[in-house]
This record gives sequence, C-alpha cells and structure tokens, in this order.
Amino acid sequence: MASRLFEEREHAALYQKYRVPLPSQICNLVLNYLQRKKGKPFSLAVDIGCGSGQSTRGLAAYFEKVVGIDASGAQIEEARKVGGLGNISFRQGLAEKLEFEDGSVDLVIAGAAVHWFDMEMFMKEVERVLKPKGCVSLYCYRVPFELHYNDCSEHLTQIVQEMFKTLAPYESEKSQIARNEYKEVFDAITFPDKERVDNIPFEQHESISWIKGFFESLSYYQTFQKKDPESAKASVERMEQNFLQAMGVASSETVLEMKWTAFCLLASKPE
Ligand SMILES: C[S@@+](CC[C@H](N)C(=O)[O-])C[C@H]1O[C@@H](n2cnc3c(N)ncnc32)[C@H](O)[C@@H]1O
Repeated sequence: MASRLFEEREHAALYQKYRVPLPSQICNLVLNYLQRKKGKPFSLAVDIGCGSGQSTRGLAAYFEKVVGIDASGAQIEEARKVGGLGNISFRQGLAEKLEFEDGSVDLVIAGAAVHWFDMEMFMKEVERVLKPKGCVSLYCYRVPFELHYNDCSEHLTQIVQEMFKTLAPYESEKSQIARNEYKEVFDAITFPDKERVDNIPFEQHESISWIKGFFESLSYYQTFQKKDPESAKASVERMEQNFLQAMGVASSETVLEMKWTAFCLLASKPE
C-alpha cells in the first residue's frame, strides 16, 4: 500500500517538525465555501491523511469537533504528542473505510494526501458520511516553491529546482497525480457541484535547516534514502551548503521566505 511510505517512526517524527501548517488562505477558502453551501452549524470536520496533524489543528477553532485520520500508526502517535484544543482527536484509519456514521460529517478535508487514496472507494465513503450539502476539500501544494533572501532569490530558487530534479527519479506514480495538479482527482469527484481554485499564494518564513528537514520528510527523499543512503544524505547536505554560499551566511538557522502556491478542489454533496 502506498501509505506504507509514511509508516516509519523516524519519517513520522520528521513530519511533525517539517510539514507546512494549514495556510490561513486555504482555511478561509474552505470555511467560506462550507458556509456558502451548507451554512452553520459546523459540527464535525474530518481530516483524512492527516499525517502528524498540522491541518487538523488548523481547523479546530472553527468546528465543535475535528478528527484527524491517518493510515499510519506512527503518524497518529506523533499527532497525539502535540497539544492543542480539546476538541481534536486522532485515529488510525483508512480513507477508503471511514468509521463515521452516515450523514454525520460537515467537512471532509485532505491536505497533500488524496493522491495516495483509492479515489473511487474514498468518494463512496465521502458520499456516505457527509451531511446533505456537506463539503469535501482536497488541496495540495505546487512544487518547486520559491525562496527569497536579499538579492539572491533567483539563485536560491534554482537550488530548490535542482533538488527536486535530483529527487524526481524516486517519485512514486501517486506523486505524479499531485504534479498533475489533481486533474484526475477532480474528474473522479462524483458530486456535480464542484470547482477548483488554482494559484492560492501563501508564504512561510523558515530556516535553511527547516527546508533541509522538509526535503527529508518527502516520500521520494525517503525512497532515495532507502535505495542509496549516502547519496541521499549528500544531496541535502550539498543543497544546504549551496544555500549558505548563495546567501553569504554561516548559520543554517538563517531564515528566508518561502513562497508557495496551492490548489484546492471543493465540492458539495447534493441535498
Ligand atoms: C503527504 S502526507 C500529508 C500529511 C498532512 N495532511 C499534511 O498536510 O502535511 C500523506 C498522508 O496520507 C496518509 N495516507 C496515505 N494513504 C492513506 C489512506 N488510504 N488512508 C488514510 N491515510 C492515508 C499517509 O500515511 C500520510 O501521513
């Protein structure tokens, strides 16, 4: 199963530290959509493929209850370690077999995860568990992202592009679905009322070390590491050195600006 890629404890720990928190731009987009289609109350949101729970926690302030579900027990364990609002819980489970009652969920959301699911089985479960007019939101980030620091932004972005090129041979077919910006996922959404929002910009400020950790958290870096650990390690260390040199700084704790764009599919269950 593709989710096996995320099962290891060390990988889950990297996720906890180095994944992108739910961007407010996506959170607002989804909440406004849900408000428009179904309206309040916002009782239950379910975050599928929640990993270590970054997106789950981002929703907690807006719902009575938020449940994060992930196939990987190690990811769920990491998610539970982090504190948060008392209305969040995490459970190990599968996107294709959601343990929620029929018509009980207001929002099903999946961040950078739906490309790992069996879309047909997942959609059947979404249809079953959503309330009438309830919504599903499937978002992901476009790569490569841009990096900005003083006047060397172009060079830094080039280093990022090179890193993604190095990792490309280790990408699974599933990651290609994300690369294709969820075109086939959109087609597989069975609700007639559906739309996509492209080019959602957001920013993050992170250190060189964080960016290195982010790369190490990617499923395709993990595959590279299993096949050739020395070359994998050398590739991220080279990237780190290239950043330091381009920026003219000595510390990997130096912070730069990451500029991302995300895309998001939104759909609402018929009444
Ligand atoms: C790339 S991570 C995304 C994690 C998180 N949502 C984020 O935004 O960082 C994908 C997650 O989906 C989970 N996953 C993959 N297939 C799954 C399935 N069929 N059911 C539930 N979770 C699954 C993996 O274990 C992994 O934690």
